Amino acid sequence: PSMAAADAPAQNGQSSGVRQRSVKAELAVLFQEALHKAFPGLDVQAEVTQTNQPKFGDYQCNNAMGLFSKLKGKEGAPKNPRTVAEAIVANLPSSPAIAEKPSLAGPGFINVRLGLPWLSKRIVHMLQHGAGCWAPVTPYKRAVVDFSSPNVAKQMHVGHLRSTIIGYTIAATLEFCNIDVLRINHTGDWGTQFGMLIQHIAETREGGLGSDALDEDVVELEVLYKASKGHFDEDPEFKLRAQQAVKKLQGGDPEFLAAWERICAASRRAFDSVYERLGVKITERGESFYNPLLPGLVQEMVDLGIAEESDGAKVIWVEGIKAPFMIQKRDGGYGYDTTDLAAIRHRLQDERGDWLIYVVDSGQGQHFEQVFGAARKAGILPQDKKQGPRVEFVGFGLVMGEDGKRIKTRSGASVKLVELLDEARERCRVTIKERRGDDISEEELEASACAMGYGAVKYSDLKNHRTTNYRFSFDDMLDLRGNTAVYMLYAHARIASIIRKVGKDPASLFHTAELRLEHPAEVTLAMHIARFPEAVELVLDELAPNRLTEYVYDLAEKFSGFYTECKVAGSEYEDSRLLLCEATAVIMRQTFKLLGITPLDRL
Ligand code: ARG
Repeated sequence: PSMAAADAPAQNGQSSGVRQRSVKAELAVLFQEALHKAFPGLDVQAEVTQTNQPKFGDYQCNNAMGLFSKLKGKEGAPKNPRTVAEAIVANLPSSPAIAEKPSLAGPGFINVRLGLPWLSKRIVHMLQHGAGCWAPVTPYKRAVVDFSSPNVAKQMHVGHLRSTIIGYTIAATLEFCNIDVLRINHTGDWGTQFGMLIQHIAETREGGLGSDALDEDVVELEVLYKASKGHFDEDPEFKLRAQQAVKKLQGGDPEFLAAWERICAASRRAFDSVYERLGVKITERGESFYNPLLPGLVQEMVDLGIAEESDGAKVIWVEGIKAPFMIQKRDGGYGYDTTDLAAIRHRLQDERGDWLIYVVDSGQGQHFEQVFGAARKAGILPQDKKQGPRVEFVGFGLVMGEDGKRIKTRSGASVKLVELLDEARERCRVTIKERRGDDISEEELEASACAMGYGAVKYSDLKNHRTTNYRFSFDDMLDLRGNTAVYMLYAHARIASIIRKVGKDPASLFHTAELRLEHPAEVTLAMHIARFPEAVELVLDELAPNRLTEYVYDLAEKFSGFYTECKVAGSEYEDSRLLLCEATAVIMRQTFKLLGITPLDRL
């Protein structure tokens, strides 16, 4: 019964009447009206924020100080910011959202307390219609999120893991906000290195161009790739043959193309197994996809007069950046830069994206500045950065080992993703088995260990601000008491068990029961539940998933505060408190969903 109807998407909350603005936005509407009335003809936006001192109020309006400075020196200007604040309060329309007359604090902050019956109604509304009714409304229709994007014939490394995890949450959050999301895996599947690799395999392995080595596991392919590079650097004759091979591959020679496809398929199997474990669905559209578009694009850039010759290559100079953006190499070939210019155009013009996001390690920040700058020069993006589609580079930092250095295995090789995931899962399997003993089937154990282990890896990544370098530690991420997925999953299972024990179906309770907010711990919890949309809004503004982990951690803490103070089963407020438990669980599951964590009902 804990999986109530409230988990169902409420038609994505879009149908009017069902959707609700955030509490903050609701108050902003009221204050906007007050501002218009108190200071007609002044064009100011209401500024409402959560208070950080719940003693004085739940939300505050911060407009008085700014307005005072704006009016200073003019005729009939107010005496001080407090007079401005008083005028705003005097014009505030009455609303059940606000409990009592707002109080003033400091130079002119206006503190408001929420009306509790109003707050309670909002939560019941959410239980009836699902968390989707609280999804923020944005002006965007279609987003293209480029994430994960590993390279063919190489293993995915921890950087790709970060991109995959962060990209997943960003894409899911946008989708939750009713934006149509295209997830693109911009794999490195094209370039001169593949001609070299194929030639090397053809010469050194049995079967030539039809060699079984082409289907090797990505680990083996990476070894072959490195060997081919050595071969290329040391043997000038091989170098010539490899260059021939590149031409053949790019010219569409069927034998070479077939060999290349087998290499791609082998790599794809490895990537897909990681995606399957992490629950990631993404459209593969690698660099090769844009290859046919490149010659025409370069010609256009030349015709527009944007591309310049430099050392025999064609480059675009982007203001403020010393390095050239190279759209055609000296030998006539195209590279990473050209492909990204073609890709941005394709995403804007063919895919009609109005929000483009690139989740790539911070080291590539300058590359994307060049891509965006070149696109502006070429008229693919409007000159004015404030206009047109929203285009963002979402960089992230490094993952460090326990020793604080870049994460490496003992042999110095980069850490294999699958091994990290395996270890997290195995450690969880042991803990769960210890707790449950024989009281768990092998199947449930496996499912729980995966949910907890993979959830822990994701959560420990997402909880850091994406731009910081973080230390990877199994002990920390599996800590039962810390800010971890494990703690969160236990918190959720506990709520599920409370609901189970009462034995009433919360999904039907909200038709009959009233949600009464009386005990301070109930109010604190309810308030935090209602702030979920504000956490989502922060993620949209900053593309920072740690806003969600912070939110859900606080939610668990506030629930725990409530549960310590307020008896649920058998209390005279049983039904009301059960609703509060259910609302907590629904919002918690919604947050888990955005974080890519599978909730468990029992642990
Ligand atoms: N394959 C690249 C790498 O591993 C990342 C690609 C990111 N996306 C892009 N559109 N350039 O570094």
